[in-house]
Amino acid sequence: MLDWETLCQTCLECTRCGLCETRNHVVFGVGCREADVMLVGEGPGEQEDRQGIPFVGPAGKLLDDMLAIIDLDRNTNCYIANIVKCRPPRNRDPLETEQDACIGYLRSQAALVRPKIIVCLGRIAAQRLIDENFRITRQHGQWMEKNGVWMTAIYHPSALLRDVTKRPETFDDLLSIREKIKELGAQV
Ligand code: URA
Repeated sequence: MLDWETLCQTCLECTRCGLCETRNHVVFGVGCREADVMLVGEGPGEQEDRQGIPFVGPAGKLLDDMLAIIDLDRNTNCYIANIVKCRPPRNRDPLETEQDACIGYLRSQAALVRPKIIVCLGRIAAQRLIDENFRITRQHGQWMEKNGVWMTAIYHPSALLRDVTKRPETFDDLLSIREKIKELGAQV
């Protein structure tokens, strides 16, 4: 298993897919590397590509506010990463081939963090990590255990910026995450 330093360095130099040609920064991940809760988004947007940090644009601000509701904070008790580490042009969905090329980094990050809970942010992460047929509208907030890790998905914060009617359901999903944290005695 790679150590953090080697993993991060390898990722920062990655040329495994075409996204390396248009990126400004690789967006590796941020947060507590011993966290019991890990959040996984889709891929960097414009701001993230500029700064090299996940969720720093408008969706990121909303994500931080959502996390605060359940006492999670990116600087202290959770770890945040994406399915792909480089920005897809014009924020299109990452291609299957790009996800395939990149997913090993996320798997290594998860192996190092060893979270008790993984929260997928949006459809792309849920379909990649929970079930390829995952329907976010129908299945958000549901829980399943995979290899000893409890997994759930909530709407992506960008979707919540576009459609505020999804926010009450997401609030319930956040409370369910807080319950699961309690139930598992996870550290927050
Ligand atoms: N959207 C994502 O899925 N990830 C980010 O890091 C930023 C926006």
